[in-house]
Amino acid sequence: MSRLVRKRSLGKKQNTSVLDIGFEDAKKIKELAKKHPKKKFMGVEWVKKSKLQTRTHNLKLTYGDALSKLRRLPSASVNIITADFFFSEFKIKGRELSAFSLRKEMSEKFAKRKADTLKQVSRVLAKNGRFFVLEYGADLEKTISLLNNNGFVCTKKPVPKNQMDRTYFLSLIKDRMIIDARNASAWQPFIITARKKPVSNVKH
Ligand SMILES: C[S@@+](CC[C@H](N)C(=O)[O-])C[C@H]1O[C@@H](n2cnc3c(N)ncnc32)[C@H](O)[C@@H]1O
Repeated sequence: MSRLVRKRSLGKKQNTSVLDIGFEDAKKIKELAKKHPKKKFMGVEWVKKSKLQTRTHNLKLTYGDALSKLRRLPSASVNIITADFFFSEFKIKGRELSAFSLRKEMSEKFAKRKADTLKQVSRVLAKNGRFFVLEYGADLEKTISLLNNNGFVCTKKPVPKNQMDRTYFLSLIKDRMIIDARNASAWQPFIITARKKPVSNVKH
């Protein structure tokens, strides 16, 4: 190997393996970071939790807006991005759409912000990267359309039963599916696997 090639490969920065947007209590990303000590993990969340350890040797959790965080990351620098129930509980400056009067311009603002966030997800994802989105049955098709309209192709499958205690949020949904059995299909969570469309297929 020539000295120049060796120098370049030594200087190459390691990609982040997983970035979790909207990590809340960070249970899942912390577990992953523990299981894979040689890989790099990151998370961003709007709501600050006191007493949550935000740094370990391979995990960096930051507080703030997902879009601002994504904008600061280099292109093609993350292999997997996860967003659990993020789009159905999407916030701008810490407030969900339901907190505003249902004015048309507000829902347009939210739609634009989600699209801008997805543009950044697409930029930050590595070439064969994957974007995993968890979503309730009731919001599934809406979220898939959002992803399709912003340059992703998607597949979906129900979250397997043995994964339903993986996060506090999933265990709450599991309870809801029992307590509110009539609406179990609306609560049923799905995993959406989204990949970037090949550039020639992206609508402009
Ligand atoms: C439904 S919770 C999911 C929590 C966690 N991922 C889980 O499954 O246990 C969605 C999280 O996304 C966060 N969130 C929503 N919009 C955000 C945004 N624009 N920037 C950062 N965090 C956001 C919320 O504060 C909330 O904690």
